[in-house]
This record gives sequence, C-alpha cells and structure tokens, in this order.
Amino acid sequence: MEKQILLTGDRPTGKLHIGHYIGSLVNRVNLQNTGLYNSYIMIADQQALTDNARNPEKIRNSLIEVALDYLSVGIDPTKSTIFIQSQIPELSELTMHYLNLVTVSRLERNPTVKSELKEKNFNMSIPAGFLIYPVSQAADITAFKADIVPVGEDQLPMIEQTREIVRSFNSIYKENVLVEPKAILPKGGFGRLPGIDGKAKMSKSLNNAIYLSDEPDVIKKKIMSMYTDPNHISVNDPGNVENNIVFTYLDAFCREKDKLKEMKEHYQRGGLGDVKVKKYLNEIIQAELKPIRNNRKMYESDIDYVYDILKEGSINAREVASTTLLEVRKAIGLDYFKK
Ligand code: TRP
Repeated sequence: MEKQILLTGDRPTGKLHIGHYIGSLVNRVNLQNTGLYNSYIMIADQQALTDNARNPEKIRNSLIEVALDYLSVGIDPTKSTIFIQSQIPELSELTMHYLNLVTVSRLERNPTVKSELKEKNFNMSIPAGFLIYPVSQAADITAFKADIVPVGEDQLPMIEQTREIVRSFNSIYKENVLVEPKAILPKGGFGRLPGIDGKAKMSKSLNNAIYLSDEPDVIKKKIMSMYTDPNHISVNDPGNVENNIVFTYLDAFCREKDKLKEMKEHYQRGGLGDVKVKKYLNEIIQAELKPIRNNRKMYESDIDYVYDILKEGSINAREVASTTLLEVRKAIGLDYFKK
C-alpha cells in the first residue's frame, strides 16, 4: 500500500512546552512510528517572520531550540523529514500563484488570523505578509501533496482555506494536480493545555509554561505554584476537580487512570490536600520529561549534527516541492520553453 503523506510544523518563536508536547508532538511521534506515513515536519521560520520581521534574531535562535525539542521527543530524522521553510524557495512561488485564487475579504474572514490580529494589536499596521500567511501555509501543505495535517484546533481554518485553494486550482487549471488535505486533531481533547496560572493558553508571553527543556527544580517550582480550586481552602473542604488545572494536567499526563479516579473522588469528598496532588503531578511530569531532557543534552553537545539533519531534510524536501511546482507551472501554462 502506498504511504499517505503527512505534513505539519511549528513557528519557531521560542522553546516548545508541554502544551505542544501533549497537543501535538506525542501524536506526531506516534503517527511517525506506525510506519504508515511519509512524514514531513517543517519549522516555519518564514511564517514566524510575518509578525517578527524586526526581530529576526529571535526566529533564528528559536529555530535550533525547536529542532532540539523535536529530536529529543523522538521525531526521528531516519523516519521523518525535518526541514526549514525558508530553505524551500519553491514555497514562495507557489504562494504567489495561489494568492490570485484568494480574495482579500476571504483572508480577512479567517477566524484564526482575525483573533491573532486582535491579540497582536497591529491596529492599522498589519503586515501584508501576516494577512496572507494562510496562503503560504496552503503552499507548505500542497507542495508535498499532504493527505493529512496533524494540528491543533486553531489551525482548522488554515486547512479549510487550503482545501478551497486546492479545489479552485484543480477546477480552473487541471484536475488532480493538487491534493486536498485533511486535518487530524489530537486525541483526548488535549489540544490546548492551559497555563500553570489557569489562563486559557500556555504561552511564553504569559510566562505560564513548563518547557520540555526545564530543569527538575524549575518544573517542581512551577507545579507547586499552580492555580487550583480557590474554594479548597483547608484540606478537609470538598474540592472541585473541574476547572482545576492540576487535575487537567493529571488527565493529560497520568497513565494510572484508576488511581487518578480515586484521587478525584477523595479530593471532591474532602481530605486530600493540594500539595499532595501537586506532588503526584510533579512525579509524573518529572518522569515524562527526564528522558526528553537527557536526549536534548546529547543533541545540544553536537549542534553541528543537528544543523546537518536540518540541511539534509531541507535538500530532500526541496526536491519534492520543486516537482510539484513544475506541475503547477505547467497546469497554469507557464512552461514556455519545452526543453
Ligand atoms: N501555523 C502553524 C503554527 O502556528 C505553523 C505551520 C506553518 C503549519 N505551515 C504549516 C502547520 C503547515 C501545519 C501545516 O504553528
């Protein structure tokens, strides 16, 4: 059976945290290890620059951090092609061709872009590149003829827009040149792990994230400071496990489901203190992150090797993207010189 093609990626704007881990990295590694997919994992540095043009150092420095995080969680360069978006200029040309198939009002309607615009306070100074990044994302996906794109829920509008572009392209120019991708959401509804302060999203700017590369004492400190049920004042008070992020994290990370169920009942009845629950969570997270941190240290000691992996991945990815670009040019009729 021919392998399906999987493509996904991240913007390099900082180190990856346990929200990325539970919401997408674990899923990617599992899909990679089924052997059923031809996997492409892209570091979207150009997309990251769409709202960081004046801060390229941040993107450059984050790129290697993201690569280290990928390798240390088990994205395996012998099984997946890890590559850098900016090193594939074919993606930019594809973007130009697709831009003619998309209206400005459609771009302004993209719900994820809309909420990012609000969040980032661009006001009247929206970079044009930012507004069109969903089209560039369509280029990323279609250049590899990806069948599936494992992403978080916030990326669904991008996949939808990609599908629209594919349908327009195929119907205007030539059927079956581009492939309509399908989004795959993470299992178990852990698309968005809240931050340790209970805010909706774990993020660097809110300073509420636990990073994959955090040292054990830092992890412990963060967990012990976590937000819990504000009405669970003394140990004997009945506590709430809903909207109690210590339990949200346990749901995401704890494998002893029976023990967790018992703990929840105990907490709800009263008599189980927050410190005890946090200590249990700390044990679990420490055990999960220790091998990852150790792998990371190994790769950190040979950064040249990591860049070699990215270079080789980018060379291989470029070959695939340039084949698609030739087909696209031909379909539009831009193949003037036959030989
Ligand atoms: N938009 C994604 C993010 O915010 C990154 C990304 C760029 C991507 N190109 C992609 C994801 C293609 C999936 C497929 O992290």
